[in-house]
Amino acid sequence: MDLFEKLKNNRGPLGQHASIAHGYFAFPKLEGELAPRMKFRGKEVLTWSLNNYLGLGNHPEIRKVDAEAAAEWGLAYPMGARMMSGNSNLIEEFESQLSDFIGKPDTMVLNYGYQGIMSVIDALLDRKDAVVYDSECHACIYDGLRMHLGKRFVFPHNDIESCEKQLERATKVIEKTGGSILVITEGIFGMLGDQGRIKDIVALKKKYQFRLLVDDAHGFGTMGATGVGTGEEQGVQDEIDIYFSTFAKSMASIGAFVSSNEQVIEYLRYNTRSQIFAKTLPMPIVAGNMKRLDMLRNQPEHKEKLWTVVKALQSKLRERGFNIGKTESPVTPVFLSGGNNEAANLIIDLRENYSIFCSVVIYPVVPKDVILLRLIPTAVHTMEDVEETIAAFEKVSEKLKSKYYANLDINVTV
Ligand SMILES: Cc1ncc(COP(=O)(O)O)c(C=O)c1O
Repeated sequence: MDLFEKLKNNRGPLGQHASIAHGYFAFPKLEGELAPRMKFRGKEVLTWSLNNYLGLGNHPEIRKVDAEAAAEWGLAYPMGARMMSGNSNLIEEFESQLSDFIGKPDTMVLNYGYQGIMSVIDALLDRKDAVVYDSECHACIYDGLRMHLGKRFVFPHNDIESCEKQLERATKVIEKTGGSILVITEGIFGMLGDQGRIKDIVALKKKYQFRLLVDDAHGFGTMGATGVGTGEEQGVQDEIDIYFSTFAKSMASIGAFVSSNEQVIEYLRYNTRSQIFAKTLPMPIVAGNMKRLDMLRNQPEHKEKLWTVVKALQSKLRERGFNIGKTESPVTPVFLSGGNNEAANLIIDLRENYSIFCSVVIYPVVPKDVILLRLIPTAVHTMEDVEETIAAFEKVSEKLKSKYYANLDINVTV
């Protein structure tokens, strides 16, 4: 069959819905200044979909540094991959500031989180090694694992007994191959908001020999007394052997980093293919990210404001009888019951009639007849935003219960 013919007939699990979803449920455009209130299809909506946790994305101090750095450097410099011609003093200075903050001896800045961690996993493991990982890990970890030619052992999400069983099996494998074991989990799981059980995994080091890699994309800047992340929150930052996070969430920028000891980071600098064979971050991004790190470290008020909003949102949702699962972080899931058509109609109603914009997750990502609305509070939301949203949620959940949405056709042209 012609390749293009195949793509016409099989559009993929999400692409098959493109004709109804595009521009509304998928690829929506939020326009205007980055803020809780933005425009969606020309109308103002209160948005809970941006991982701009600390509200730094549109902060005037940051806008100023971004603009000045762009004027000074342009977007081209430095050219090439860092190994060849794209290294700079500024990025090395940034790496040393990150190491200092994260509490690890060395750091490598990555040009993107997704490719970065995929390639870090690829670089760390060879076919003799075994990897043990949480089933709810992000797609980028799964994609990194797809490149691994040795054994992979998955444990059900946060199930430490099963993690131990998989470690036992992995240990038997490496005794034969002479390889090593890497365990991978996340700090905060981005869908449900619960924390990875890092402390419990670390405790297993007493019985098994392995190294631990933690992806703390949602925890960096939001968790722990000083915002270092979920390792700090659980008191085990030192026991995380390889710490990864992105700049795309609490820093509302782009790029990522990985921190560990000097020898591991030097190994990664020389072996991480997505960095060796791809262009480095442009100077304004590095300068802008340094400013963000400085604010994240030295202006605790942003994290404090975030948590004031998080606590208000989560406690009020619980008080009004909503099921928000086991979140232990700013990520706030709201679980409702209904089919996919009902979910689509509820989202249309929320956006068109209550001006609330949030993400929705439906079957097959969650079990059948579960509708998961996902709210991301930020430091720039207000108490009025919280009240307005909960009032709207009460109305739409009543309508859902009364089967109002089940009897509607899905119509995104409203
Ligand atoms: C857990 C996790 N890891 C990695 C990434 C990828 O980061 P980036 O957006 O910097 O590519 C994300 C982004 O959504 C994430 O949630």
